[in-house]
Amino acid sequence: MARAETLALAEAALRPEPETKGQLRFLTCGSVDDGKSTLIGRLLYDTKRLFDDQIESLKSDSSRYGTTGGEIDFALLVDGLVAEREQGITIDVAYRYFATEQRRFIVADTPGHEQYTRNMATGASDADLAVLLVDARHGILTQTRRHAYIVSLLGIRHVVLAINKIDLVGFDEGRFNEIREAFAEFADAFDFRSLVAIPIAARDGDNVIARSERTPWYSGPSLLEHLETVDVTEDAASGDLRFPVQWVNRPDANFRGYAGTLAAGTVKPGDDIVVARNGAVAKVARIVTQDGDLPSAEAGAAVTITLDRELDASRGDIFSSPDARPEVTDQFSAHLIWMSSNELLPGRPYLLKSGTRTVGAAVSELKHRVDIASFKPLAAKTLTLNDIGLCNLSLSEPIAFDVYDVNRTTGSFILIDRFTNETVAAGMIRFGLRRASNIHWQALDVNKGSRARALGQKPVILWFTGLSGAGKSTIANLVEKKLHLLGRHTYLLDGDNVRHGLNRDLGFTDADRVENIRRVAETAKLFIDAGLVVLVSFISPFRSERDMARELVGEGEFLEVFVETPLSVVEERDPKGLYRKARAGEIKNFTGIDSPYEAPLNPDIRLDTTTESPEALADRIVAKLREGGYLGWDAGLP
Ligand code: ADX
Repeated sequence: MARAETLALAEAALRPEPETKGQLRFLTCGSVDDGKSTLIGRLLYDTKRLFDDQIESLKSDSSRYGTTGGEIDFALLVDGLVAEREQGITIDVAYRYFATEQRRFIVADTPGHEQYTRNMATGASDADLAVLLVDARHGILTQTRRHAYIVSLLGIRHVVLAINKIDLVGFDEGRFNEIREAFAEFADAFDFRSLVAIPIAARDGDNVIARSERTPWYSGPSLLEHLETVDVTEDAASGDLRFPVQWVNRPDANFRGYAGTLAAGTVKPGDDIVVARNGAVAKVARIVTQDGDLPSAEAGAAVTITLDRELDASRGDIFSSPDARPEVTDQFSAHLIWMSSNELLPGRPYLLKSGTRTVGAAVSELKHRVDIASFKPLAAKTLTLNDIGLCNLSLSEPIAFDVYDVNRTTGSFILIDRFTNETVAAGMIRFGLRRASNIHWQALDVNKGSRARALGQKPVILWFTGLSGAGKSTIANLVEKKLHLLGRHTYLLDGDNVRHGLNRDLGFTDADRVENIRRVAETAKLFIDAGLVVLVSFISPFRSERDMARELVGEGEFLEVFVETPLSVVEERDPKGLYRKARAGEIKNFTGIDSPYEAPLNPDIRLDTTTESPEALADRIVAKLREGGYLGWDAGLP
């Protein structure tokens, strides 16, 4: 189908039709072998006559109602996770449209390949119902359990268990009941509002559109009958007002409107609203759309709201009613569905996008991973592709949110890798952690400035990074000696040493290295507060964590020193004999051999140890510090 056509269809399909049951969004899950494509094909084919008619009327509808080319609306309507869409990521989910006299349907067909959690989470994020397919011969598989779990996590409350290929088990009622009961047993815990099992043979059409004579023992509806009649109304419009501001529209000095889509509730002129983040209040003046002002708007409507006064609100803020405000916190507990083939690294700073808001975030604690076979929690240090886990997240600044069970829009988020821009996880917020707001940083009377002044220097971190054996510690040592002779106050944090004490519990997996650097960065920050020149000598192989360390301290308090010695040279030197062992397979995850090193892109100081002596390089650093005013008694102290 051409894109424009799809657009028109999508737009019109979502306009409520009072005389019918409106529309149903559902997704299908199961692997290709379960007959998913056959089933969808059959639904589309057998309802095709109506479908064609619809296309015609929808086409004319949309030329009549179409705004702004429809592009934006389309995306809002058919793409799953709003934040994911804004990321501009192409998702492997096909949305298909069909209709009967009863209802219009939007089906998200999520492929069953290895990235299926990503696709499922995308397809499921605003679906009303899920059709879980199982092959009657195989019964419930691990994947069925995983799909059911994700479906429930994503807040889908209506499930059809389509027991397919019932012909291949001789239309056996006993087998059907056995599978249905096995499913019901574990699905009990999932809080599904409706769960209907239907025996089907998608290839021949049994119980897909019409009831089949070949299953006389089955007295329930056909799949289509059920889809046409199932009541999935969730009264989002009656919920508390949630209006995430997408952008502030200010064409001229006289007009200031807040554009966005209502995530829940209703709003009308004269209503009081509050900005969740800062408590600013105002009254709604107008609700503006392309087609004129509205007397009111409800969940799902894309509108521009103007207020009766100016207030501090911008993209990412949420308007709510004053008596039912969302929570605001910088730490919460959430379920994560991990979607990346790069594993989760607790402590690593990711970007968190919730609705229209983006902040920095790290997993501060991974509580457990969920074992899909038993749904029991398993101890885990990381999450890998398609894993589901429960964790605490810590954000760089507070955001307004609701728990996912209350609002699927303001309660969900995605995590994005800062460098690759890949969406690595989808998250569902369980609750805010209040602990965070009870611990306040103590403003002490003796502070960084007074300490530094007493020491007569400007505190700074010299962050040495490079391969093992590159010469980091040798040069850092020399620099410290020289500074000491100049009467400067220093401290050297060296990987090999810190790993004997503070970081004794850490090894060399990616996750452990991230934690290693996080701790040493926090320690360095404390020494900065003490007014010292801090030398940090760690391989610190990942850009993300070096950047995190830089962001922990103030502008000008972090200098990245790249000790650039090629692998061939360090291997040749091999001062500790470790490269030889690593090559021999005696040491695993060795940097440069079987664990990556991400060289700095823009180091503040670059040292080539193959052309200059450690002495000369150390002198260069001291000169650089002097130039930067770090060593002077009076130079630009904070
Ligand atoms: S980091 O990657 O986490 O920053 P760190 O600087 O603390 O590493 O420790 C590196 C030192 O540990 C190396 O200089 C080397 O002596 C030792 N080491 C032992 N095993 C490994 C390994 N697998 N990879 C790198 N260094 C290792």
